[in-house]
Amino acid sequence: MFYFGTNTKQGLDRVSHRSISTRACELSTQYQGVQFFILPTAPLVLEIKSIVGKNRVWVGSQSVSAMNQGNTTGEISASTLKEIQSDLVMVGHAERRALDEDDITIARKLIELDAEKLRVLLCIGERDRNESKNQREEVFQNQLKPIKNIERSEILIAYEPVWAIGSQGIPADADYVGQSLEIIKKILSDLGRIDVSVLYGGSVNSKNALSYSQLDTCDGLFVGRSAWSADGFEEVFKTSYSG
Ligand code: PGA
Repeated sequence: MFYFGTNTKQGLDRVSHRSISTRACELSTQYQGVQFFILPTAPLVLEIKSIVGKNRVWVGSQSVSAMNQGNTTGEISASTLKEIQSDLVMVGHAERRALDEDDITIARKLIELDAEKLRVLLCIGERDRNESKNQREEVFQNQLKPIKNIERSEILIAYEPVWAIGSQGIPADADYVGQSLEIIKKILSDLGRIDVSVLYGGSVNSKNALSYSQLDTCDGLFVGRSAWSADGFEEVFKTSYSG
């Protein structure tokens, strides 16, 4: 299975969300070997879910609270996400790590999601571009540690080097990405989790998408800005997918 999806973050309007999801549904009927997904801003998750209906497009949340019990204003609980049948929940995005998600919080979030058996997209990645292979390995070891406690939830990993994300990001070389994905797969195999798929994200666009997707170790792409229109979503997907 090849995974292709987007995180629309917080600024994209409702009309664009609707047209991206409609296009993703159309693509899902043409490409059987692909699992598409969209992570809209929270107030739009239910609406996009109803647009997608029974099409093979997952719709999920960009975040979850680390505290399911108790009342914490402004948070989204794992039990609510279960109730609305969120297909996927992202944890550990670099922009959330920069705000408030430290390793302990991420581990707690994973436990909440595991209790509800919700599918997880755990984002990992090194902060600095020049980290050596060994330094990267250490970073990934630490960031992947919390999945040891996950027993019920399906897990996907998105490898997103922090320095490659967003408008200030520098697209990574495919060789560098390939090396990182190999390290990640080795750690997952040591953890007994060869079932876990690993996607790549960080300034993915229609010019570089194929260079990443054709890596043996790359199970899919996780795209931001370049997929924030129906045409952009389709174009990046079509240039990346050769299956
Ligand atoms: P980008 O975003 O493709 O715009 O760099 C990726 C992400 O933040 O996941």
